[in-house]
Parts: sequence; C-alpha cells; structure tokens
Amino acid sequence: MLTQTELKQNVASAAIEYVLPWLTPDTILGVGTGSTVDLFIDALAPYKDRFLGAASSSERSSARLEALGIKVFDLNQVQGMPLYVDGADEIDQGLNMIKGGGGALTREKIVASVADQFVCIVDESKVVECLGRFPLPVEVIPMAREAVARRLSELGGKPALREGFTTDNGCQILDVSGLAITEPAKLESLINDIPGVVCCGLFALAGADVVLVSTQDGVRRLDKNPS
Ligand code: A5P
Repeated sequence: MLTQTELKQNVASAAIEYVLPWLTPDTILGVGTGSTVDLFIDALAPYKDRFLGAASSSERSSARLEALGIKVFDLNQVQGMPLYVDGADEIDQGLNMIKGGGGALTREKIVASVADQFVCIVDESKVVECLGRFPLPVEVIPMAREAVARRLSELGGKPALREGFTTDNGCQILDVSGLAITEPAKLESLINDIPGVVCCGLFALAGADVVLVSTQDGVRRLDKNPS
C-alpha cells in the first residue's frame, strides 16, 4: 500500500513526463504551490537547462525553485506560458477545483490565467463527487473580513478566520465549511462579487485542462476535452 507521500511522488514524476515535450530554451513554466508541487519542483531541477525558467504562485515555491537553480520570472515579464502545474485540495469529474489550502489561491489563479493549459496533479484522495467537504478558502481584504463573513453565511457557509495567517498579498483567509457546491462556476462568480473578496478558492470558471491522478494502481489522466 503506497503512502500519500509516495502517491504524491509518483504524480510529480508523471508530471515531469507530461511537461518534458513542452520544454524549449524559451519556455517559461507556470509553477503552483503545495507539498505535491514541492516534489514536482525537486523532480524538475535536473532538467533546468532545457527551459528558460518559471513563474511561480508563491514566495514559498519561488524560494524552492531558485534554491535549485531554476530562474524565477516576475509575471509582469511573462507574455505567456504553455503549462501551469499545480495541485488541488479537491477536484470533481468536471475538473472544477477547490484550491487555497496553502493560502496561495489568488496568485495561483493569476499565474494559471496566463498559461495555455492547467495541469492539475493530485493523489486520489482529492477526487470527489461534489466539491465542498474541504472548507473553501476565500482571501479577503482585512477591513472587509466581517462584512464578507456575513455574506458567506447568507450563502449557507460557516466562515472561519485562518488564525495567524497572512497571505503573500498581505490579506487574510476565511475558510468556509458547510457548502455543498453543486454549481461551482455560479458560486465562484457570486463570491467574487462580494466587495472585499480578493479571490475565491473555487477554480470552476476556469478549471483544470488535464488532471494526473495518482492511485494505488498507477497514475491515470483525465482530460477536460477528451479527443
Ligand atoms: C495552495 O494554496 C493550494 O491550492 C494547493 O495547491 C493545494 O492545497 C494542494 O496542496 P498539497 O499538494 O500540499 O496537497
């Protein structure tokens, strides 16, 4: 029986196989955040001379990339990227995701938006029928925290402040439990529209394009638009 760490290691290796054909001397790769991505970054390091560098979704990932000799570009210097590779906290069959368990949701959504393809790497524990068992992270401007929390309660959720945590953007996170998310794109828009919300951890308006899922029987691939 593989442990969760071994499953994450396997999907990180599978992601390297997926990414290699895209690497050219001009390629900038989008790199996400989390323990699965940490393993991906480590596995990417031996190939650092095959591509130009990375744009990252967190200070944590940038530090890891740079420590391994991979150049990190400010996103403002980047015109486009073929791929953005990141984990998820939950993903459903429609490839909608909940992200932000590590608090990097806003930068993840921004960097992903510049890439042609979102490649999600998860172990099988992250694949769900319906999103919402994992509390939905919502990044908020600190002065708006209580106002946003009231609106999230009206939507049926139970928001809780992530105590002692500040995002890379100097903001706070409300983790919202109790939501059964049957219409992820609709809920994402509703939450995005609340004044004071910086970003909602639902990735449904633009979900994943490809998912690599690590299972006890190997890594399987799901495509948004199977050909
Ligand atoms: C970071 O903010 C998150 O969106 C991560 O992508 C997500 O929490 C997955 O993390 P792990 O790979 O550590 O499970």
